[in-house]
Amino acid sequence: MQPSCLSWICRRRQAMRDYEPEKMKKITFTGIRRVMARANQLEAEGESIIHFEVGQPDFVTPKYIRDAACVSLQAGNTRYTSNYGNLALRKAISAKLEKENHIFADPESEIMVTVGGEEAMAAAVLALVDAGDEVLLTDPGYSPYDSMVKIANGIPVYVSLDESRNFNFDLQELESKITTKTKLLVLCNPSNPTGTMIDRDNLAALSEVCIRHDLLVIADEAYERVIYDGNEHVSLASLPGMFERTITIHSFSKSYSMCGFRIGYLAASKSLMQILIRCHQKMVLCATSFAQDAALAALGKESDEMNRMLDAFDQRRKVIYDTLTELKIPCNRPQAAFYVFPNVSCLGMDGDQFALRFLEENGVACVPGRDFGENAKNNVRISYAASLEDCLEGMARLKQFVEKVRAEEGEKS
Ligand SMILES: Cc1ncc(COP(=O)(O)O)c(C=O)c1O
Repeated sequence: MQPSCLSWICRRRQAMRDYEPEKMKKITFTGIRRVMARANQLEAEGESIIHFEVGQPDFVTPKYIRDAACVSLQAGNTRYTSNYGNLALRKAISAKLEKENHIFADPESEIMVTVGGEEAMAAAVLALVDAGDEVLLTDPGYSPYDSMVKIANGIPVYVSLDESRNFNFDLQELESKITTKTKLLVLCNPSNPTGTMIDRDNLAALSEVCIRHDLLVIADEAYERVIYDGNEHVSLASLPGMFERTITIHSFSKSYSMCGFRIGYLAASKSLMQILIRCHQKMVLCATSFAQDAALAALGKESDEMNRMLDAFDQRRKVIYDTLTELKIPCNRPQAAFYVFPNVSCLGMDGDQFALRFLEENGVACVPGRDFGENAKNNVRISYAASLEDCLEGMARLKQFVEKVRAEEGEKS
């Protein structure tokens, strides 16, 4: 018998206690992963699948950025960098934050380069949340925040964002959820999953509440550059009195189609950074050295490729939004990011049933709204980070699916 077989048998024979901590039992695999797994399985069986579940641009990273990563590697830049990230990159980020976001962050002490926005989020939540601290999260909202708060043994408190208000805050509801234990509010603007943006006036009103209740805010602005119709992205930290209490998270993933580089950053006041940097250092030491050089190149040039990418998203957005409108499926017109978030209850089903049937019957994968919160159980998230051809084909299949469902409904009545 092979030694590896013996080791396998021994492994199976041991009785072990349940090592999974209670906090991890609360963390489930996201619906996106489940949908993706089923879609990939169907594809492997030969089905033609349209992928509207994936939240990453389908474009390859622009060549000048890939070249910079190659040059960096060839030059042997393979050592750890400062925990904060390369100073040259932090200086470029500081200049960009000042010019585009009106945030004034000292490159020496108020900027930290991270392993994508996701690590920035983990570092911020794990460093700031103590057991029992309450954290205000939006429902619907970007689901990893909820998991991070639970891993930190914090208590997520959900503030609903209703479609009727175009997924904006009801400040009265927000205030009613604030207690003496509330420490932090997480704001994802522009929003994944709804594709909406909070405008300057609403942000100003929100910031007034945060200041009055002495709350910290994580402002996840990963989609700050993927915006349409000339909308203005306003960074929360640029508003009076907010820099001191805001951790701003930005990412290269969506803006430059650099998801696989795993590179992002956060900006926070020096005193907050002294807390965050220790968590980041213990978790990852620093972001990947040559990915940092690629990020520096990305910031160094206005690229036609990026504008072409935005134009392509815009075109796809129209295809999907127009089809949903034509089919009379209620949906907000996305202002940013690459998601449409229709409410499918008019088809006599909730988001889970819709996502399951649309995938199994017509081969189109999208994410049930419940993945982003109970408030969105009747929605589905359609990502148009897919080619125009796929968007057109996906919408043709949607028409067939909706016709079939409406015919079934007609037969029942
Ligand atoms: C709102 C939001 N924040 C952060 C992230 C993380 O992005 P990354 O870690 O690739 O920078 C994502 C990814 O989808 C996102 O949608």
